[in-house]
Amino acid sequence: MNEYKLLLLPGDGIGPEVLDATMRVVGWYGQKGLPYKTEEALLGGAAIDATGRPDPDETFVKAIAADAVLMGSVGGPKWDGLPFAQRAERGLLRVRKDMGVYANLRPALCFDALKDASTLKPEIVSGLDILIVRELMGGVYFGEPKETITLPDGQKRAVDTGVYTTSEIERVCRVAFEMARLRGNKVHSAEKSNVMVTGVLWKEVITALHKRDYADVELHHILADNAAMQLVRNPKQFDVLVTDNLFGDVLSDEAAQLTGSIGMLPSASLGDKKENGLPSALYEPIHGSAPDIAGQGLANPIASILSFAMCLRYSFGLKDEASRLEKAVDAVLAEGYRTGDIMQPGMTKVGTTAMTDAILKALDKAA
Ligand code: IPM
Ligand code: MG
Repeated sequence: MNEYKLLLLPGDGIGPEVLDATMRVVGWYGQKGLPYKTEEALLGGAAIDATGRPDPDETFVKAIAADAVLMGSVGGPKWDGLPFAQRAERGLLRVRKDMGVYANLRPALCFDALKDASTLKPEIVSGLDILIVRELMGGVYFGEPKETITLPDGQKRAVDTGVYTTSEIERVCRVAFEMARLRGNKVHSAEKSNVMVTGVLWKEVITALHKRDYADVELHHILADNAAMQLVRNPKQFDVLVTDNLFGDVLSDEAAQLTGSIGMLPSASLGDKKENGLPSALYEPIHGSAPDIAGQGLANPIASILSFAMCLRYSFGLKDEASRLEKAVDAVLAEGYRTGDIMQPGMTKVGTTAMTDAILKALDKAA
């Protein structure tokens, strides 16, 4: 069996710390027989500092050649003043586009031990298990024209363009239906077909796909603004929620808060299967680079570690190993270990290293 090629993109802020923590977990699986080798590349602000660009070409060559990419986080105040095209975030958008990862899976799972950490009432969030499937390569993030021009009267005019084609919509909706079949068998499709033609097309395409290939799955159409409201009103009505790039960005942050902390949530971004049978795959925590706590050993590594659990499941097909890791995290939370972002009275406050130690110990126990 060949070694899996993992590309590490630590990025900025707490990215390197949480990825280091995750690599200790990867190492644990290595000792148990997971064959892998790693490479590292620059992205975001770290790349700007080293090369002058947020997206050095070498990074993309390596990303495309990798079996799975594990990313930390990108961006920070140091690079915020740069012109739009040179901002750290451009590097991340290019990685997604160049790797062809169009389906962004963002689970919002409320661990039982954390049901009191949410700002919502525990009965609303306890047992919550939603999967947001966000389209990641199209829509208003990438549509052309995307420009700011100066008009004859001197004022400026900025344009972003929301574009979707039939095939772009169909491939991500297919992923949503496939995921639903493995879970609660229900898909909500969120768009704004009342005001956007991309929304009209979205609704048409998913309706046709449903009828053709997925009639066994329950499908509901919901306007994206109503979805935002329903997510805080009664989030447990959702199983899989599929939506476009921009709505998915917003709704997944909202869903994250239901679980207590954005520091808890992993993500997987998947594309089509490559020749070797593995999908193009990028794994990253949903949280940002948290510059305020970077470099202090305080960051919650759980989102990044759970992103590796998604890698075990979706890239390597190791479902039992993925569950083992998720259960280890669950156990550690139940024992009362908390990083600052999820700290509650009476619990044990720990930093990145101690949290990771505890997870490794729980893995040992489960092995
Ligand atoms: C996310 C982030 C990114 C996005 C930024 C950092 C470009 O908010 O992954 O949700 O908008 O997609
Ligand atoms: Mg976001």
